[in-house]
Amino acid sequence: MRGKSRVALSVAALACFSFLSTVSGLSEPLMYTGLSNYTFPEEFIFGVATSAYQIEGGWNLGGKGESMWDTHLHKYPNYTVDGSNADIAADSYHLYKEDVKMVQYLGLTYYRLSMSWPRLLPRGTDNYISEDGKRYYRNVFEELLKANITPVVTLFHWDLPTPLMDLGGWNNPRVVDYFEDYARVAFELFGDVVKIWTTMNEPHQHCYNGYGGTQFAPALNAHGIGEYLCTHYMLLAHAKAYHLYDKVFRPKQNGQIGITLDSFWAEPKNASDPEDVAAAENYLQMHLGIYANPIFNGDYPDFVRQRVNNMSIQQGYTRSRLPYFSQEEVKMLKGSSDFFGLNHYASFLMSPCPGDEYNVPSMDHDTGVCLEQHPNWPKPGAVWFSVNPEGFRKLLNWVNDNYIKRNNMSIIVTENGLCDLGGLKDYARISYHKKYLYQLLLAKNLDNINIQGYFAWTLMDVFEWTDGYTSKFGLFHVDFESPERTRTPKLSAQLYKQIVKTRQIDFEFLSPESSKYQSNKL
Ligand code: NOJ
Repeated sequence: MRGKSRVALSVAALACFSFLSTVSGLSEPLMYTGLSNYTFPEEFIFGVATSAYQIEGGWNLGGKGESMWDTHLHKYPNYTVDGSNADIAADSYHLYKEDVKMVQYLGLTYYRLSMSWPRLLPRGTDNYISEDGKRYYRNVFEELLKANITPVVTLFHWDLPTPLMDLGGWNNPRVVDYFEDYARVAFELFGDVVKIWTTMNEPHQHCYNGYGGTQFAPALNAHGIGEYLCTHYMLLAHAKAYHLYDKVFRPKQNGQIGITLDSFWAEPKNASDPEDVAAAENYLQMHLGIYANPIFNGDYPDFVRQRVNNMSIQQGYTRSRLPYFSQEEVKMLKGSSDFFGLNHYASFLMSPCPGDEYNVPSMDHDTGVCLEQHPNWPKPGAVWFSVNPEGFRKLLNWVNDNYIKRNNMSIIVTENGLCDLGGLKDYARISYHKKYLYQLLLAKNLDNINIQGYFAWTLMDVFEWTDGYTSKFGLFHVDFESPERTRTPKLSAQLYKQIVKTRQIDFEFLSPESSKYQSNKL
């Protein structure tokens, strides 16, 4: 990718913009004042999320195998913008009890975390299970339960065991079976204490950036084919793990299992231009529908199927670059999630794009849409990140219209949070959570969308993939210079705690503009 598309799309891109935009983002429009007129019901799930590679460290402790992120960053130490890796990260391998205390401090009863596949299965396959891996996760889950916190566990948050990456990773159909084996081990070992599972986190970002592009490990750059193979086999692996749980484990363990998908909101650049409106819809179908449609409605969306088929023919391929599911696989996929896990952060403006911006072939080129930042949306952190709370409600409606209503499902927002450059007085994050949560309340109450829960990303500052430690999302600051990885609550931790406790949003709480909370003491 080149030009503005790269800027717009690169989740991994360095860098952060001015603080001024943060400050201007604080001026609350009229509707964000006083107390929110809606409240979160008692049964609404509030939680916070992390992932194994981003927090655990202990990359080679206790006989852990290497993940492909370990291997990639050891081989290419300058791959991240600050030359860092997650060998130690927040050291949750040793400090998980601290993590649990922090979740407790926030008054939360749910914590979404992931398991490191190579910590449990160092070779990637189930012929050898690590005793240390078993002990570690048993300890973590029990510590959570002791604190009355329900673990919500993701099986795969991007850290594929290196031996499986060496076989082609998600481009190798056999990895589907190895994922099912891993899932079986996890359900057998921990299904007594883990009652909410998600199979995978954001297959879209993983395949698009890691297999189609170079922004994430394994940086295959196999654009036009690699991201579709990855998509196809991750979907099948998800469905297999779902049915395994559903048939074999659910009857005795009685839990739920779903998947976490992600999307930006696609805002037409000019809402009265039908071409921009179509471009926005095409973007959503290609980047979110390609995952959600097989799982909730059966098979790839018509638009995606036709577009990739046509482009493939035009480009001289004998077969479509997007593989086909068999009828049996379509059936296996359809309905393979108990809820829709949605990660959402930011919005982009969309317009049609001739395609010379992009690699050919590629998913971007197939989509035929250009992404731009809105000049007025605050950009307090990474270049891909902008604040547009209304986009969240629009995305919730799009997901509802396409998948939730017709299948009588629910949405759990499995990640949402703000990226900045750091600092304990994180007013931009405070403003972000208030506004995004308010949009969620509107979607729930005015649009009647069945939204069951919300997980803030993230509990603490973590290793942010290609951004290393430069982009911050945490409610707690982590001192990555100190051997103790000292954690300190930011102001946003007070805000989230207050919302969770009162089940309502007080727009004046910790607002620098409000006379009601002058001191803003930490
Ligand atoms: C989504 C990913 O799941 C998570 O790993 C990442 O840190 C956040 N987005 C922020 O970029």
